[in-house]
Amino acid sequence: EQSPVDAPVAKAKPVLPNAQTVTKVTHYTDRLFSFRVTRPQSLRFRSGEFVMIGLMGDNGKPLLRAYSIASPSWDDELEFYSIKVPDGPLTSKLQNIKVGDEIIVRPKPVGTLVHDALLPGKRVWFFATGTGFAPFASLLREPETYEKFEEVIITHTCRDVAELEYGRKLIEGLKQDPLIGELVEDKVKYYPTTTREESPKMGRITTLIENGQVFKDLDIAPLNPETDRGMVCGSLEFNKDIAAIMENAGLKEGSNSMPAEFVIEKAFVG
Ligand code: A2P
Repeated sequence: EQSPVDAPVAKAKPVLPNAQTVTKVTHYTDRLFSFRVTRPQSLRFRSGEFVMIGLMGDNGKPLLRAYSIASPSWDDELEFYSIKVPDGPLTSKLQNIKVGDEIIVRPKPVGTLVHDALLPGKRVWFFATGTGFAPFASLLREPETYEKFEEVIITHTCRDVAELEYGRKLIEGLKQDPLIGELVEDKVKYYPTTTREESPKMGRITTLIENGQVFKDLDIAPLNPETDRGMVCGSLEFNKDIAAIMENAGLKEGSNSMPAEFVIEKAFVG
Protein backbone atom coordinates (compact mmCIF):
# COMPACT_ATOMS: atom_id res chain seq x y z
CA GLU A 1 0.00 0.00 0.00
CA GLN A 2 1.35 3.42 -0.96
CA SER A 3 1.35 6.18 1.58
CA PRO A 4 0.24 9.55 0.23
CA VAL A 5 3.81 10.74 0.61
CA ASP A 6 5.15 8.14 -1.87
CA ALA A 7 2.35 8.58 -4.39
CA PRO A 8 3.60 9.89 -7.73
CA VAL A 9 3.02 13.57 -8.10
CA ALA A 10 1.00 14.48 -11.18
CA LYS A 11 3.22 16.82 -13.17
CA ALA A 12 1.52 19.71 -14.89
CA LYS A 13 2.14 19.12 -18.62
CA PRO A 14 2.00 21.88 -21.19
CA VAL A 15 -1.23 21.45 -23.09
CA LEU A 16 -0.52 21.07 -26.81
CA PRO A 17 -3.19 20.70 -29.46
CA ASN A 18 -2.96 17.22 -31.06
CA ALA A 19 -0.16 16.27 -28.66
CA GLN A 20 1.57 12.91 -29.04
CA THR A 21 4.31 11.47 -26.84
CA VAL A 22 7.80 10.65 -28.12
CA THR A 23 8.64 6.95 -27.53
CA LYS A 24 12.04 6.62 -29.22
CA VAL A 25 14.75 8.86 -30.73
CA THR A 26 17.72 7.63 -32.82
CA HIS A 27 20.48 9.89 -34.11
CA TYR A 28 22.41 8.70 -37.19
CA THR A 29 24.66 11.61 -38.11
CA ASP A 30 24.93 15.29 -37.22
CA ARG A 31 22.42 15.84 -40.07
CA LEU A 32 19.93 12.96 -39.61
CA PHE A 33 17.73 11.40 -36.93
CA SER A 34 14.54 9.37 -36.61
CA PHE A 35 11.90 9.28 -33.88
CA ARG A 36 8.73 7.48 -32.95
CA VAL A 37 5.62 8.89 -31.28
CA THR A 38 2.28 7.56 -30.07
CA ARG A 39 -0.39 7.41 -32.77
CA PRO A 40 -3.45 9.67 -32.60
CA GLN A 41 -6.49 7.43 -32.16
CA SER A 42 -8.33 9.20 -34.95
CA LEU A 43 -5.49 8.89 -37.50
CA ARG A 44 -6.07 6.60 -40.47
CA PHE A 45 -3.58 6.92 -43.32
CA ARG A 46 -2.34 5.14 -46.41
CA SER A 47 1.31 4.02 -46.36
CA GLY A 48 3.37 6.71 -48.15
CA GLU A 49 1.31 9.72 -47.01
CA PHE A 50 2.50 12.72 -44.99
CA VAL A 51 1.12 14.78 -42.09
CA MET A 52 1.91 18.14 -40.50
CA ILE A 53 3.93 17.80 -37.30
CA GLY A 54 5.80 20.21 -35.07
CA LEU A 55 6.26 22.03 -31.80
CA MET A 56 4.77 25.04 -30.10
CA GLY A 57 6.67 28.12 -31.27
CA ASP A 58 7.98 30.84 -28.96
CA ASN A 59 5.12 33.07 -30.12
CA GLY A 60 2.59 30.54 -28.78
CA LYS A 61 1.59 29.39 -32.25
CA PRO A 62 2.24 25.87 -33.52
CA LEU A 63 5.31 25.61 -35.77
CA LEU A 64 4.45 22.84 -38.22
CA ARG A 65 6.10 21.19 -41.24
CA ALA A 66 5.11 18.42 -43.63
CA TYR A 67 6.66 15.06 -42.72
CA SER A 68 6.21 11.75 -44.49
CA ILE A 69 5.10 9.03 -42.11
CA ALA A 70 7.93 6.48 -42.19
CA SER A 71 5.97 3.74 -40.42
CA PRO A 72 3.39 1.57 -42.22
CA SER A 73 -0.36 2.09 -41.86
CA TRP A 74 -0.71 -0.95 -39.55
CA ASP A 75 1.82 0.21 -36.93
CA ASP A 76 0.64 1.23 -33.42
CA GLU A 77 3.09 4.14 -33.40
CA LEU A 78 4.20 6.74 -35.94
CA GLU A 79 7.80 7.00 -37.12
CA PHE A 80 9.48 10.00 -38.75
CA TYR A 81 12.89 10.46 -40.38
CA SER A 82 14.27 13.98 -40.28
CA ILE A 83 17.12 16.20 -41.30
CA LYS A 84 18.64 18.56 -38.69
CA VAL A 85 19.11 22.06 -40.00
CA PRO A 86 21.17 24.13 -37.51
CA ASP A 87 19.17 27.32 -38.16
CA GLY A 88 15.97 25.59 -39.29
CA PRO A 89 13.00 27.07 -37.36
CA LEU A 90 11.58 23.62 -36.54
CA THR A 91 14.40 21.09 -36.90
CA SER A 92 16.87 23.10 -34.78
CA LYS A 93 14.46 22.44 -31.86
CA LEU A 94 13.00 19.12 -32.95
CA GLN A 95 16.46 17.52 -32.98
CA ASN A 96 16.58 17.92 -29.17
CA ILE A 97 13.39 15.94 -28.40
CA LYS A 98 13.67 13.14 -25.83
CA VAL A 99 11.52 10.15 -24.92
CA GLY A 100 8.48 11.42 -22.98
CA ASP A 101 8.40 14.83 -24.69
CA GLU A 102 5.33 15.88 -26.63
CA ILE A 103 5.07 16.98 -30.26
CA ILE A 104 2.11 18.11 -32.33
CA VAL A 105 0.75 15.66 -34.93
CA ARG A 106 -2.15 16.93 -37.04
CA PRO A 107 -4.22 13.87 -37.94
CA LYS A 108 -4.86 14.89 -41.57
CA PRO A 109 -2.81 12.66 -43.89
CA VAL A 110 -2.33 13.54 -47.58
CA GLY A 111 -0.01 12.61 -50.44
CA THR A 112 0.54 11.07 -53.83
CA LEU A 113 3.12 8.36 -53.00
CA VAL A 114 0.32 5.84 -52.49
CA HIS A 115 -0.63 2.62 -54.20
CA ASP A 116 -3.96 4.13 -55.24
CA ALA A 117 -2.11 6.50 -57.60
CA LEU A 118 -0.17 3.72 -59.39
CA LEU A 119 -1.52 1.26 -61.95
CA PRO A 120 -0.63 -2.40 -61.31
CA GLY A 121 2.64 -3.62 -62.84
CA LYS A 122 5.40 -6.20 -62.54
CA ARG A 123 8.05 -4.11 -60.85
CA VAL A 124 7.96 -0.98 -58.69
CA TRP A 125 10.92 1.38 -58.34
CA PHE A 126 11.28 3.52 -55.23
CA PHE A 127 13.74 6.37 -55.99
CA ALA A 128 14.97 8.29 -52.91
CA THR A 129 17.65 10.80 -52.02
CA GLY A 130 18.47 11.80 -48.43
CA THR A 131 15.41 11.96 -46.14
CA GLY A 132 13.28 11.20 -49.20
CA PHE A 133 13.67 7.61 -47.99
CA ALA A 134 10.93 8.20 -45.36
CA PRO A 135 7.78 7.39 -47.36
CA PHE A 136 9.50 4.27 -48.68
CA ALA A 137 10.28 3.16 -45.13
CA SER A 138 6.49 3.05 -44.82
CA LEU A 139 5.79 1.47 -48.21
CA LEU A 140 8.52 -1.18 -47.78
CA ARG A 141 6.61 -2.40 -44.68
CA GLU A 142 3.21 -2.22 -46.40
CA PRO A 143 1.74 -5.62 -47.41
CA GLU A 144 0.07 -4.13 -50.52
CA THR A 145 3.53 -3.41 -51.99
CA TYR A 146 4.23 -7.14 -52.15
CA GLU A 147 0.71 -8.15 -53.14
CA LYS A 148 0.76 -5.72 -56.06
CA PHE A 149 4.32 -6.20 -57.38
CA GLU A 150 6.65 -9.15 -58.06
CA GLU A 151 9.75 -6.99 -57.66
CA VAL A 152 10.51 -3.95 -55.50
CA ILE A 153 13.63 -1.92 -56.27
CA ILE A 154 14.66 0.73 -53.76
CA THR A 155 17.42 3.14 -54.81
CA HIS A 156 18.82 5.53 -52.21
CA THR A 157 21.43 8.14 -53.07
CA CYS A 158 23.15 10.00 -50.22
CA ARG A 159 26.25 12.11 -49.81
CA ASP A 160 28.04 9.61 -47.55
CA VAL A 161 27.81 6.08 -46.19
CA ALA A 162 26.56 7.08 -42.71
CA GLU A 163 23.51 8.70 -44.30
CA LEU A 164 22.48 5.33 -45.75
CA GLU A 165 22.29 3.63 -42.33
CA TYR A 166 18.62 4.25 -41.48
CA GLY A 167 17.52 2.76 -44.79
CA ARG A 168 20.01 -0.10 -44.77
CA LYS A 169 18.95 -1.25 -41.28
CA LEU A 170 15.28 -1.05 -42.19
CA ILE A 171 15.78 -3.12 -45.34
CA GLU A 172 17.92 -5.68 -43.52
CA GLY A 173 15.08 -6.14 -41.01
CA LEU A 174 12.29 -6.66 -43.56
CA LYS A 175 12.58 -10.44 -43.93
CA GLN A 176 12.61 -10.90 -40.14
CA ASP A 177 9.51 -8.74 -39.66
CA PRO A 178 6.85 -10.98 -38.09
CA LEU A 179 4.04 -9.26 -39.99
CA ILE A 180 5.39 -8.89 -43.50
CA GLY A 181 8.56 -11.04 -43.59
CA GLU A 182 6.91 -13.88 -45.49
CA LEU A 183 5.46 -11.53 -48.10
CA VAL A 184 8.82 -9.87 -48.69
CA GLU A 185 10.69 -13.10 -49.60
CA ASP A 186 13.39 -12.10 -52.12
CA LYS A 187 11.34 -9.42 -53.79
CA VAL A 188 13.33 -6.41 -52.55
CA LYS A 189 16.42 -5.25 -54.42
CA TYR A 190 18.34 -2.53 -52.57
CA TYR A 191 20.55 -0.17 -54.61
CA PRO A 192 22.35 2.35 -52.35
CA THR A 193 24.76 4.87 -53.88
CA THR A 194 26.92 7.66 -52.47
CA THR A 195 28.18 10.79 -54.18
CA ARG A 196 30.71 12.31 -51.78
CA GLU A 197 32.30 9.34 -50.01
CA GLU A 198 33.82 6.14 -51.35
CA SER A 199 31.38 3.19 -51.25
CA PRO A 200 30.75 0.03 -53.31
CA LYS A 201 28.49 2.02 -55.69
CA MET A 202 29.30 5.64 -56.38
CA GLY A 203 27.30 8.23 -58.32
CA ARG A 204 23.89 9.80 -58.63
CA ILE A 205 21.15 7.31 -59.48
CA THR A 206 20.13 9.55 -62.40
CA THR A 207 23.58 9.03 -63.97
CA LEU A 208 23.47 5.30 -63.26
CA ILE A 209 20.10 5.03 -65.03
CA GLU A 210 21.20 7.13 -67.99
CA ASN A 211 24.38 5.11 -68.55
CA GLY A 212 22.53 1.82 -68.01
CA GLN A 213 24.73 0.74 -65.07
CA VAL A 214 21.84 0.12 -62.65
CA PHE A 215 20.13 -2.29 -65.08
CA LYS A 216 23.42 -4.19 -65.56
CA ASP A 217 24.09 -4.32 -61.81
CA LEU A 218 20.57 -5.60 -61.02
CA ASP A 219 20.39 -7.76 -64.16
CA ILE A 220 17.02 -6.36 -65.23
CA ALA A 221 15.53 -4.88 -68.39
CA PRO A 222 15.45 -1.10 -68.93
CA LEU A 223 12.43 0.97 -67.81
CA ASN A 224 9.32 -0.09 -69.70
CA PRO A 225 5.82 1.42 -69.34
CA GLU A 226 4.26 -2.05 -69.65
CA THR A 227 6.03 -3.51 -66.64
CA ASP A 228 7.62 -0.74 -64.56
CA ARG A 229 6.11 1.67 -62.05
CA GLY A 230 7.93 4.35 -60.06
CA MET A 231 7.65 6.43 -56.91
CA VAL A 232 10.03 9.35 -56.47
CA CYS A 233 10.95 11.32 -53.34
CA GLY A 234 13.85 13.74 -53.06
CA SER A 235 14.81 17.35 -53.73
CA LEU A 236 12.96 19.37 -56.37
CA GLU A 237 15.85 18.99 -58.82
CA PHE A 238 16.05 15.26 -58.23
CA ASN A 239 12.32 14.83 -58.74
CA LYS A 240 12.46 16.82 -61.98
CA ASP A 241 15.40 14.79 -63.29
CA ILE A 242 13.79 11.42 -62.50
CA ALA A 243 10.44 12.58 -63.93
CA ALA A 244 12.21 13.43 -67.21
CA ILE A 245 13.85 10.00 -67.25
CA MET A 246 10.52 8.27 -66.62
CA GLU A 247 8.74 10.30 -69.28
CA ASN A 248 11.48 9.60 -71.81
CA ALA A 249 10.96 5.91 -71.11
CA GLY A 250 7.23 6.33 -71.84
CA LEU A 251 5.88 6.33 -68.28
CA LYS A 252 3.24 8.91 -67.35
CA GLU A 253 2.75 10.72 -64.04
CA GLY A 254 -0.26 9.60 -62.00
CA SER A 255 -2.31 11.03 -59.15
CA ASN A 256 -4.93 9.91 -56.65
CA SER A 257 -7.71 10.74 -59.12
CA MET A 258 -5.89 9.43 -62.20
CA PRO A 259 -3.53 6.51 -61.44
CA ALA A 260 -0.69 6.02 -63.95
CA GLU A 261 2.89 4.74 -64.12
CA PHE A 262 4.80 7.00 -61.71
CA VAL A 263 4.23 9.45 -58.86
CA ILE A 264 6.35 12.16 -57.23
CA GLU A 265 6.59 13.95 -53.90
CA LYS A 266 9.08 16.51 -52.63
CA ALA A 267 11.01 15.43 -49.54
CA PHE A 268 10.85 17.55 -46.41
CA VAL A 269 13.73 20.03 -46.66
CA GLY A 270 14.00 21.70 -43.28
P1 A2P B 1 25.44 15.30 -54.93
O1 A2P B 1 26.35 15.03 -53.79
O2 A2P B 1 26.07 15.03 -56.27
O3 A2P B 1 24.77 16.64 -54.87
P2 A2P B 1 21.30 16.33 -50.20
O4 A2P B 1 21.94 15.72 -48.99
O5 A2P B 1 21.92 17.59 -50.68
O6 A2P B 1 19.80 16.42 -50.09
O7 A2P B 1 21.54 15.28 -51.40
C1 A2P B 1 21.25 13.93 -51.24
C2 A2P B 1 21.83 13.15 -52.38
O8 A2P B 1 21.07 13.43 -53.57
C3 A2P B 1 23.27 13.53 -52.70
O9 A2P B 1 23.99 12.33 -52.88
C4 A2P B 1 23.16 14.31 -53.98
O10 A2P B 1 24.25 14.17 -54.84
C5 A2P B 1 21.95 13.69 -54.63
N1 A2P B 1 21.31 14.59 -55.60
C6 A2P B 1 21.03 15.89 -55.43
N2 A2P B 1 20.41 16.40 -56.52
C7 A2P B 1 20.30 15.39 -57.40
C8 A2P B 1 19.75 15.28 -58.71
N3 A2P B 1 19.20 16.33 -59.33
N4 A2P B 1 19.81 14.07 -59.31
C9 A2P B 1 20.37 13.01 -58.69
N5 A2P B 1 20.88 13.05 -57.45
C10 A2P B 1 20.87 14.23 -56.81
